Amino acid sequence: MKNTMKKLTSLMMAGTLLAGCSSAPASSNQAAQESAPKEKVTIGVAQIVDHPSLNTIRDAIIDELEVQGYKDGETAVIKYQNAANQISNLDTIMSGYASDKADIIIAIATPTAQSAQNFSDKVPVIFSAVSDPVGAGLVKSLNKPGGNVTGTSDEVQVDQICDLIGELTPSAKTVGVLYNAGEANSVSNVKKFKEYAASKGLKVVEKTGTDLTTLQQAASVLCQDVDVLFSPNDNTVASGMAALSQIALKAKVPYYVGADSMVKDGGFATVGIDYEALGRETALMAVNVLNGNDPAEMPVKVFKDDLNVYINQNDFDQLSKSSKVPVQIPDSVKNSDKLVMVK
Ligand code: TRP
Repeated sequence: MKNTMKKLTSLMMAGTLLAGCSSAPASSNQAAQESAPKEKVTIGVAQIVDHPSLNTIRDAIIDELEVQGYKDGETAVIKYQNAANQISNLDTIMSGYASDKADIIIAIATPTAQSAQNFSDKVPVIFSAVSDPVGAGLVKSLNKPGGNVTGTSDEVQVDQICDLIGELTPSAKTVGVLYNAGEANSVSNVKKFKEYAASKGLKVVEKTGTDLTTLQQAASVLCQDVDVLFSPNDNTVASGMAALSQIALKAKVPYYVGADSMVKDGGFATVGIDYEALGRETALMAVNVLNGNDPAEMPVKVFKDDLNVYINQNDFDQLSKSSKVPVQIPDSVKNSDKLVMVK
């Protein structure tokens, strides 16, 4: 209630400030007020595949753009396309946005951003939720991107996830790692995970797949040989998570994952960020670029604080009865205000 009142008051103020300037949209935001858009801008939003985390990000971006005064059909043209996990579709989408003379491209997830980058000589690109922007070749450095591309990063805290394995399943000795090697984000995360796991004395066995069918086969084989399973925030895994988590649960293998949404879709546990906040920040960066800021000089915003621990209650209940290695929630985790039990 309080928030709504605040929003209304600032909208009214913005309306007063902008009175007489009919082409500029009303806005509740200070930054947008200072440099309101002069004419309808075209914003091209693209996403690699449908899965809950990317959908949350997309909805937050579009909502925040509206809060900032860019409402589709009124003050802006916001185009949205989903590539159904096909790289060739991404290239078609991006060349379409470029030839439509979009003012900005917002690219959700690593493969999307890599495709958008090919058109960044024509259109500035803001990426969203790219795990490793340097490793994916999108920016020269996080602080000084250097090209016409910048955005937000969801750097996965693989060390904390690995520590969580030790806390919830202390007798685990071998970890199976499942991912799509075609995703640069996963390649980076798996490399970091393997290094940290080795330093903790865990043995890692990895298997990859490029789609749900091959990932399911890989998961079934892996589950026979390992104590626990881990997938980073891999888009291909996330889009098939409901099926993959069932394979692990049937094999009584606790399945650690790289994002909260993957726990909601049946994964056992993770340590992760708030993707809605990341989506909103992505929209704010896009607005800054529309207002004339140079992406080359805008540091990547890395989300790695305010992490929560997510544990799937149903998985925990089932694994408590019977699991390859015993599961537990120690008091240090149980009493933490960061713990979210996912029902
Ligand atoms: N970080 C992923 C990438 O770089 C995108 C992503 C965001 C994701 N949230 C996720 C992937 C959740 C899987 C699950 O492409």
